[in-house]
Amino acid sequence: MLIMCVACAASAYEFRTAGSVGDVKAAALLGRMTLREKIGQMVQVDLLALADKEHLARYAIGSVLSGGDSDPADISPKGWADTYDELQRYALKSRLKIPIIYGIDAVHGHNNVNGAVIFPHNIGLGATRNPRLVEQAARITATEVAATGIDWTFAPAVSVVRDERWGRTYEGFSEDPELVAELGAAAVRGFQSRRLSGPTAILACAKHYLGDGGTAGGKDQGDTVCDEATLRKLFLPPYQAAVKAGVGSVMVSFSSWNGLKMHANRYLITEVLKGELGFQGIVISDWAAINQLPGDYKDQIRTGVNAGIDMFMIPDGPPKPNNYVQFIELLEELVREGQVPEARIDDAVRRILRIKFELGLFERPFADRKLLNLVGSAAHRKVARECVRQSLVLLKNDRNVLPLPKKTGRIHVAGTAANDIGIQCGGWTITWQGKPGNVIDGGTTILQAIRRAVHPSTTVTYDTDAQGAPGANFTVVVLGEKPYAEGVGDRQDLSLPESDLQVLRNAKASGAPVVFILLSGRPLILGEALELCDALIAAWLPGTEGDGVADVLFGDYNPTGKLSFSWPRSMSQVPINVGDQSYDPLFPFGYGLRYTQKNAKR
Ligand code: GLC
Repeated sequence: MLIMCVACAASAYEFRTAGSVGDVKAAALLGRMTLREKIGQMVQVDLLALADKEHLARYAIGSVLSGGDSDPADISPKGWADTYDELQRYALKSRLKIPIIYGIDAVHGHNNVNGAVIFPHNIGLGATRNPRLVEQAARITATEVAATGIDWTFAPAVSVVRDERWGRTYEGFSEDPELVAELGAAAVRGFQSRRLSGPTAILACAKHYLGDGGTAGGKDQGDTVCDEATLRKLFLPPYQAAVKAGVGSVMVSFSSWNGLKMHANRYLITEVLKGELGFQGIVISDWAAINQLPGDYKDQIRTGVNAGIDMFMIPDGPPKPNNYVQFIELLEELVREGQVPEARIDDAVRRILRIKFELGLFERPFADRKLLNLVGSAAHRKVARECVRQSLVLLKNDRNVLPLPKKTGRIHVAGTAANDIGIQCGGWTITWQGKPGNVIDGGTTILQAIRRAVHPSTTVTYDTDAQGAPGANFTVVVLGEKPYAEGVGDRQDLSLPESDLQVLRNAKASGAPVVFILLSGRPLILGEALELCDALIAAWLPGTEGDGVADVLFGDYNPTGKLSFSWPRSMSQVPINVGDQSYDPLFPFGYGLRYTQKNAKR
């Protein structure tokens, strides 16, 4: 039985300021370390870049990560736990036996693990407007991550997404800074629990600092051009809230502000984040992000370290260039040459060690195998199903065609996305980009959920193009974006493809009422689709629990979802955000219909 520690939500997280138990221990250990051992702690090596596991001890490496595609051969929960424990055993052979901290992108569940529960991506959680539910989802994700030994998730993304052309729109909760701040802080509390040393607590990471969702044209890793007052108003509130919630790490953005790469921005990282906001945790770089800075590797390292970055994500090992051994050697040179003050190294390493002590890694460095059976549990799926229910937004319901009756002659289901877990989950699912198909065990497609929900006397038929719709009492068309992640998802035209419109035309031609369920990582330009359906539900990227969609479809849950993004009429309106001077979207921020009482139950 999963005891939800949601009551802890109100309590602040213990680790906050210098002088905590972890800090005292960190200072003592720091005093025993050589310069090279200190620098080793600032290195986070990707699992697939580790040239030799012995390097973990030889170079006193501080951290390992699994990037989107850096998986062990066995991606079962046990396979991940075995990999984690093996690496930890190597790390503990170092002179001072300092354990590694292992990071991964568990951004909508423990999404690299087969059989894990996959939650709706943040765009759907944003539509729930429910911080307690968001915290619960993060708490469950943390439990499944901790079960595999892993200590750190690179989540929540607290991007304030201002242009839907950005391929990472779905990783954001909203376009509105206050809503992002509220839900981001809830996720931090859920991941980190009341005590970081708790058995299922993991380190959270607010990302990507600062202004990642504000780039011109929504270009991934692009340039956010605005004055400081606008930057602070739009993008800083989520970090203020996350720091207040005790977030233990912040990831720097690949993007730039007014032409200066964030990874070189000492003012925003050191003076604003660490100084003004009082952030005491770890500032981590993004994936090889310092290699985008001017100069050679040594210049890039000096710039990043002096900007205030504490740990560096290094996806390359010897003999490749810009590798983790070179990083250590070059940074040692920079300190000896006086180009990087040793006090800067001490600040970084003290932050890293403090977190490791707070996590209890020195006392309990290995996976707690008792938790493994919780991964993908029915109790976890139940909460994920509730997240799906509350994330769906009813945008149209002519003649109250919804909710559908469970008992009717025939329901025809159409569309490639109706029976595809991979499309339902989207990017960051088993692989970095995600992909269509049966990518993960344990999920339920929308078609399977509909079949499970209807009365035994109701026939459910299915095809991809709705040619089989004639004669049915209702047609449910489920269409969706093919999975993508990061810049791969950047698009200049968000219109529905002609092939999707044709499916809707086929469905409408049958004469029966048409319900259109859209699976997407952002609002899309609907065009003719809006007239081709009688009812429309935005289901975002709901994850593995398709039953939550059927719950809304058949009225077992009366939809409560509210748009956390403005829905544009056409591309000429993009970007469009609540608060704009001239604001005339197809559906406004906060929009969402409910079933009327008379048709709420059928
Ligand atoms: C990626 C993303 C970041 C992620 C990191 C590790 O490029 O920008 O969100 O946490 O690399 O996978």
